[in-house]
Amino acid sequence: MKNRFLVLAGLIMVLVPTLMGCSSGSSLLGRDEAIIDNSDSADLSNKRIGVLIYQFSDDFMSRFSEETEKYLDSLGFSKENITMLDALNNMDTQLEQAQQLIDEGYDALIVNPVNVNVVRPITDMASAAGVPVIYINREPEASEESRWEDYNLNMTYVGCDARQSGIYQGELVLSLGESAVDKNGDGSVKYYLIEGAPENIDARYRSEYSVATIAHEGWNMDCLYTGVGNWDTATARELVAKALVAHPEVELIICNNDAMAIGAIEALNAADIKPGQDILVVGVDALPQAIEYVKDGSLVGTVFNDYISQSHNAVDAAVRYITGEGNKHYIGCDYIKVNRENADEIAEIVNK
Ligand code: GAL
Repeated sequence: MKNRFLVLAGLIMVLVPTLMGCSSGSSLLGRDEAIIDNSDSADLSNKRIGVLIYQFSDDFMSRFSEETEKYLDSLGFSKENITMLDALNNMDTQLEQAQQLIDEGYDALIVNPVNVNVVRPITDMASAAGVPVIYINREPEASEESRWEDYNLNMTYVGCDARQSGIYQGELVLSLGESAVDKNGDGSVKYYLIEGAPENIDARYRSEYSVATIAHEGWNMDCLYTGVGNWDTATARELVAKALVAHPEVELIICNNDAMAIGAIEALNAADIKPGQDILVVGVDALPQAIEYVKDGSLVGTVFNDYISQSHNAVDAAVRYITGEGNKHYIGCDYIKVNRENADEIAEIVNK
């Protein structure tokens, strides 16, 4: 893993200046656009590419895969040579899918791993057959990435550093001022944490860094409830509905993604509690519905998880392997903070 953050002792962290200087969160000027100029590039129409997604029903990954398919199409891959597969969150299914496409002689794979444990076997199968793999969205372990480096394997990870999204969530909350968050003024912010999947690095970092960023400014953070919402709206809605009964004194609900933040907002509405007024909610991803909630004040803010840049970068990397140009092993990107000020601007990007 390539750290672009300096992590200071305990819960305190600061961002490295390079990160601060990149996509600023209030401006989109730094956002990468598609990198490949296809005007004089190789004919890709007979190249076969497999895109293996951990679960199509995941709201964010479904947008990510649609964009990947669209972009492949725009670069000249023919539709019959693009294979999109859903592992239904099952590790064995994904391993079989990878094996099958490798056996069929696919030219490259883009893989959104079900979990970190599938990465090594997929890497081994693919490299033995000379098939390059671009991993997306779920970062492999540092030891695995070092192996790619050490053995010069044609493997690359494309994704953002989830610590940044957690920090941005924290900053969105801080920007409201302590008295607007600690509504009863008792000197501590009572919150729920609605987490993605267990063991998932995005979930872990977002949970840690959102809370730590707020605590770093001296606010007392009092966790009333933590639940695993599996990135899913309905699951989060149920968790929050139950938590509201057991711990009604909550002031803030921090969600690892927007699908779950939407579920939290639905649970609040169903309980006749006004999200954004009585209880604050923050998410990550910038799903269209979440941006609407930012605009109407139900959601404090979200963090744009730029699936457009990530999918284009992943496809571009696959093309560079196919054409023999090669890649570095890590291609990063920046998250963008979304609040009421830039919500329209982000909406234009995600709704296009
Ligand atoms: C995260 C995203 C979540 C979910 C997860 C799946 O980056 O924010 O919504 O899609 O990936 O690994």
